[in-house]
Amino acid sequence: MPIGLLKLGFNFMFLFKKIAPLQYYLKAERQRKNTIGFVPTMGALHEGHLTLVRQAMQQHECVVCSIFVNPTQFNDTTDLEKYPRTPLKDIELLAKVGCQVLFMPDVSEVYPADVKIKSDFSFGNLDKVMEGAFRPGHFKGVAQVVNRLLEIVQPEALYMGQKDYQQVKIVEEMLTQTHSKVQLVMCSTLREADGLALSSRNVRLNAELRSNAKIIHQTLLQAKEMAVDHFSPKDIQAFAIKNLDIPGFRPEYFEIVDGQTLQPLERLSNGKVPVACTAVWADDVRLIDNMILI
Ligand code: PAF
Repeated sequence: MPIGLLKLGFNFMFLFKKIAPLQYYLKAERQRKNTIGFVPTMGALHEGHLTLVRQAMQQHECVVCSIFVNPTQFNDTTDLEKYPRTPLKDIELLAKVGCQVLFMPDVSEVYPADVKIKSDFSFGNLDKVMEGAFRPGHFKGVAQVVNRLLEIVQPEALYMGQKDYQQVKIVEEMLTQTHSKVQLVMCSTLREADGLALSSRNVRLNAELRSNAKIIHQTLLQAKEMAVDHFSPKDIQAFAIKNLDIPGFRPEYFEIVDGQTLQPLERLSNGKVPVACTAVWADDVRLIDNMILI
């Protein structure tokens, strides 16, 4: 039994906290030949997440969204504690867009003490750069939880946002390593009117930082123009780091990488998809963004 059946307007949404009843429900969906699309999230939902749900709903009869703040992907306990949690608002938003199933498990349900959950992933150089270099262990935690959630939900397709480009590539590699048949769908980043990428962390920006945070998208756009004008990755990087270094902001990295291997590119050569990826501190809020440069 779901623990809740929510009705908002004409939409019903089933809310599960336990694996067994969720799987029982999904088995019936499969018997009706319905395909399942899955959107994993950590909650504090915004329009970016809802767009993933809407996209999944266009392609699947049954869409499952999960809300689970995964402790194993936080290398910093303060970051975990400060992570925004807005469960009631999230439930309302999901029901309003017509999401059919919400899975909201506790930590003990995802990581039961008596079950060994696979965590021995190895990503070579993919997780040694950028987010991986600054957040040790982060991607192993992401791979662990996404793999675990996929085992539970067993969807046909998994929807993730391009804003976390490196995360998408890690999950792609994890799916290859586990011989998974799940289709990974990367959806474009949703932005505010001034270009700031939607993120659960944006609510922590004060008015001044929020206004100045548009510098991140502007810098990425300028990087794209420089790439078109054949500037070298090194020159683009030097420009970007300087441009992002405004009062209240501190760029942590700005890299131009091969979109597949995520390794820094020395030149913008044919055949490789260059992606500019950046992480910037706005006071104590860490913002990331990226742009495919061709
Ligand atoms: O991007 C996120 O919100 C999380 O890393 C994910 C994919 C839900 C795994 O916890």
